[in-house]
Amino acid sequence: MNYLEGLAELGVGGAHPGGLKLTKELLKKESINESTVILDVGCGTGQTAAYLAGFYQCAVTAVDYNQMMVDKAINRFKLRKLPVQTMKADITQLPLKSEEYDMVISESVISFTEITRALSEITRILKPGGVFIAIEIVCERTLRDHEKRMLTSFYGFTEIQTEEAWKQQLYREGFHHVRVEKPKLKKEEMTLEDTNDFDLSEKVDEDTFEVLVLHEELMERFKEKLGFRVFRCKL
Ligand SMILES: C[S@@+](CC[C@H](N)C(=O)[O-])C[C@H]1O[C@@H](n2cnc3c(N)ncnc32)[C@H](O)[C@@H]1O
Repeated sequence: MNYLEGLAELGVGGAHPGGLKLTKELLKKESINESTVILDVGCGTGQTAAYLAGFYQCAVTAVDYNQMMVDKAINRFKLRKLPVQTMKADITQLPLKSEEYDMVISESVISFTEITRALSEITRILKPGGVFIAIEIVCERTLRDHEKRMLTSFYGFTEIQTEEAWKQQLYREGFHHVRVEKPKLKKEEMTLEDTNDFDLSEKVDEDTFEVLVLHEELMERFKEKLGFRVFRCKL
């Protein structure tokens, strides 16, 4: 059982630093209306996609490559009667037309993927001038090799990059005006302690709870070396 599988079994909504509270603050700064077309990629159980569709009444697509997450997201949209187009797909190969979206949001997703391929897909499906918002883990202080190995294997990260490396990569992929924010969060907002949005599977594997405990322990142990940033950029 890895970290993402644990999140899926527990059906954790808002599984990113800052949770829905931070998401709402970020979206408030954007000009979103009923004709805005938005993709929430790596949507998990669909908390952000549901908020977008419900509050802004814009056209929302929600994509995740984990079937359990997709099923739980569909369930959420059905219960709330929200018309969110939902699909199981990998961010590095999206079955979506080019230049279709005004905005893409990915909250704690890209570090788990092949970063260059993921960003290149996002640039393909965004309209010229489209906005990309990502919440991502960053390395604040040099990690020793064994620490990096431990973190990447537990979380399934492909890379843990510095803020500067993220910025350079976003520019290389063709984004402009990369703006970086470091929101101040309380300890519980950095982990899943503050989350109260769960959709548990019928049978939850015992290992799942161990995964969560290990997550909390790692976050505490690496609190000086790991952080997160919000990257907001335009095509
Ligand atoms: C930490 S969770 C965050 C979920 C959601 N964005 C949220 O904030 O609650 C990361 C999500 O990214 C999804 N994911 C990871 N790699 C992916 C990929 N290559 N393509 C699509 N989704 C992916 C996982 O299945 C998981 O739902």
